[in-house]
Amino acid sequence: MTVTIELVKEASAGAMTVAGVTAEAFEDHPHHALLSESGFAAKVGETQMVPGDTGVELVVGLGPDAERDADSFRTAGGAIARAAKKQQSVAVHDVLETGGEIAPSVVGQALAEGLVLGGYRYTALKSDPEDSSLASIEVVGKGGKRVQSAFDVGRSIAEAVCIARDLVNEPGGTLTPPALAKKTEKLGAALGFEVTVLGPKEIKAAKMGGLLGVNRGSDIPPRFLELSWKPEGSSRGVVALVGKGVTFDSGGLSLKPSDGMLAMKGDMGGAAAVIGAFCALDAVQPRVEVRGYLPLTDNMTGGDATRLGDVLTISNGKTVEVHNTDAEGRLILADALSKATADEPDAIVDVATLTGACMVALGDNHAGIMGTSDGLLEQVQEASAAVGEKTWPLPLPQEWRSNLDSEIADMKNIGGRYGGASIAGLFLKEFVGEGIPWVHIDIAGPAFVSKETSTTTKDGTGFGVRTLVQLLKSYKRPR
Ligand code: BES
Ligand code: MN
Ligand code: ZN
Repeated sequence: MTVTIELVKEASAGAMTVAGVTAEAFEDHPHHALLSESGFAAKVGETQMVPGDTGVELVVGLGPDAERDADSFRTAGGAIARAAKKQQSVAVHDVLETGGEIAPSVVGQALAEGLVLGGYRYTALKSDPEDSSLASIEVVGKGGKRVQSAFDVGRSIAEAVCIARDLVNEPGGTLTPPALAKKTEKLGAALGFEVTVLGPKEIKAAKMGGLLGVNRGSDIPPRFLELSWKPEGSSRGVVALVGKGVTFDSGGLSLKPSDGMLAMKGDMGGAAAVIGAFCALDAVQPRVEVRGYLPLTDNMTGGDATRLGDVLTISNGKTVEVHNTDAEGRLILADALSKATADEPDAIVDVATLTGACMVALGDNHAGIMGTSDGLLEQVQEASAAVGEKTWPLPLPQEWRSNLDSEIADMKNIGGRYGGASIAGLFLKEFVGEGIPWVHIDIAGPAFVSKETSTTTKDGTGFGVRTLVQLLKSYKRPR
């Protein structure tokens, strides 16, 4: 169900009242005693029904003034969408005016994102889906056109996140590389970006030995997608986005244990984040040209699967000895980074569910970031902080490169036991053109969650879409 989010001066009759309450205002709230008794403390995103002037009213906590940031509004929006899913229309009061120093457009965008994200469910495979019936959200307040257009942008971005979630949540048996390519073509036609699909013949002609090597154990052919979007006005340069698109990662002959394999339908979370970001570009209109490079395959164990010890030749000519077929993401990204490099962009950002080691290092809700340009790293960090997606820097020391030395090829695809996320990063770096600022975002942790929050359901989160969109919006050519 898509909702409308509208700024109004006065709520229409029949809409259930939702009232924001800050920690400060809670002290004087008419239902203070009742609310306190139920455990409500006006924390961000807490909700509770209370008796109102015209039937029940939903109260949503906004926390103390000093702690409120953009993400508080996203969380509150998500909580409202959850708590009001049985309503048809709601009118949200006393929220917009609590932004303090935060710009009204930032407040409006974050609130709208939360309202859409909180209503998300993956229902495609339920015979009797429990859909939210919430169709109309009025937000009562001032701000005029600027706030309304912030709502519209927030909605477009959140819908793009939901597209990425649907892709991550779809099982690997149906979201195969050809199916994902088809879906992306449809999205491109509907939302205004170009999609070029390379099949096995073109992939062979391009000598993408990493992608072909990983695909070798599969009965399903690979795809390589090239996405492109250009701004209507002036452009500050060309940013290339690369996303890991392993539609199912069994580990290949280095087979994963059963428990670790279930989540691997989501091993295309990086590709989903890039596709999602493209879906929002027309609405956001960043002042950069954007290109996308998505290698798509599953990683299976068929009779002619890549064997340990096999040597693959990546499209830039470098050779890789495969010591572990479960380190497949870097093999397909090698081809994609080589292709992105050949097209000479001003910057490259890749997003990938690349290593369990990144989760060991940072926990499961931070993405690891590393790269070759402090300026671009800073921009990625700032973008992610602004949109409430958590990232944290990891080192990329060249002296660890010897971990990847091979006796018979230019490198092998795994290193030692320690620093696995960085070793993977050093592998990728081999395929990024000298002098092109590059950042790698390892989203193995935050691409999926095991517990729902007010803005995400269990499983696919669409992590990365918001950071990428914000990065493009604020992008400056790094020094
Ligand atoms: N797709 C996995 C990484 C992953 C693990 C993502 C858990 C999300 C959750 C990747 O292809 C992989 O298997 N990596 C190996 C690398 C190792 C063989 C060097 C890993 O992390 O164990
Ligand atoms: Mn793997
Ligand atoms: Zn993988």
